[in-house]
Amino acid sequence: MTQKVALITGSSRGIGKAAALRLAKEGYDIAINYARSKSAALETAAEIEALGRKAIIIRANVGDVEKIRAMFAKVEEEFGRLDVFINNAASGVLRPVMELEESHWDWTMNINSKALLFCAQEAARLMERNGGGKIVSISSIGSIRYLENYTTVGVSKAALEALTRYLAVELAPKGIAVNAVSGGAVDTEALKHFPNREELLAEARRKTPAGRMVEIDDLVNCILFLVSNQSGMICGQTIIVDGGISLLV
Ligand SMILES: NC(=O)c1ccc[n+]([C@@H]2O[C@H](COP(=O)([O-])OP(=O)(O)OC[C@H]3O[C@@H](n4cnc5c(N)ncnc54)[C@H](OP(=O)(O)O)[C@@H]3O)[C@@H](O)[C@H]2O)c1
Repeated sequence: MTQKVALITGSSRGIGKAAALRLAKEGYDIAINYARSKSAALETAAEIEALGRKAIIIRANVGDVEKIRAMFAKVEEEFGRLDVFINNAASGVLRPVMELEESHWDWTMNINSKALLFCAQEAARLMERNGGGKIVSISSIGSIRYLENYTTVGVSKAALEALTRYLAVELAPKGIAVNAVSGGAVDTEALKHFPNREELLAEARRKTPAGRMVEIDDLVNCILFLVSNQSGMICGQTIIVDGGISLLV
């Protein structure tokens, strides 16, 4: 049996870490990417090795194309193949529109949008050698709805969803399925950077039609579905996992 390999950006913690652990449980060897949290990345690797799978950690700022290329070269060197790529890492400057500067825009777009294009190019080169693979990005409902202070991230996620459609069309003939999972608010460390965190959490708890907030596993379940053989003809879609909150006016 072939040993399959998955690379998950931003998998030192949060949703990326949970996705890495679930993919390891499904039998994948794992490449963990992080930017700053080396000890957390090592902890994730130890948890994956305890499941009997191989894990490596790769430090790379995905906002830097040279670092992206080096990251994929490392995956090729260590594993010799790639089957699944999860584009999860994200960052952003959370400010009202009138306080945004050019550097805030560039920082956010480079990490959240540009990274997908250049990661997908590298992933596709590896995947097509083995007849294909799966690429799944993580988006958020700020791509289609107004969220306070969320302009840079919301716009970067809209670009990511559009890019998902373009990649899907051009990579489908190579046997590579490209899709995205978009989530409502999930209580991870990311929310600590929101000036209005408490308000945001209270609103998600109170308003979500499904009666509770979205949890990490809700997103990971959808990621695993898109990676599985059950999703064969889903191409270029963004599946919203938000308990219905984005349907409200
Ligand atoms: N939490 C939510 O409410 C929510 C809702 C919908 C969608 N999402 C999306 O889900 C994804 C994961 O979010 P999360 O809440 O799990 O975030 P998180 O807890 O803040 O984790 C972010 C991860 O990304 C990594 N990262 C940040 N900047 C990076 C960079 N430039 N290069 C490489 N890695 C980088 C971090 O690594 P270091 O620690 O090493 O920096 C960390 O592993 C994001 O795409 C986010 O937009 C989140």
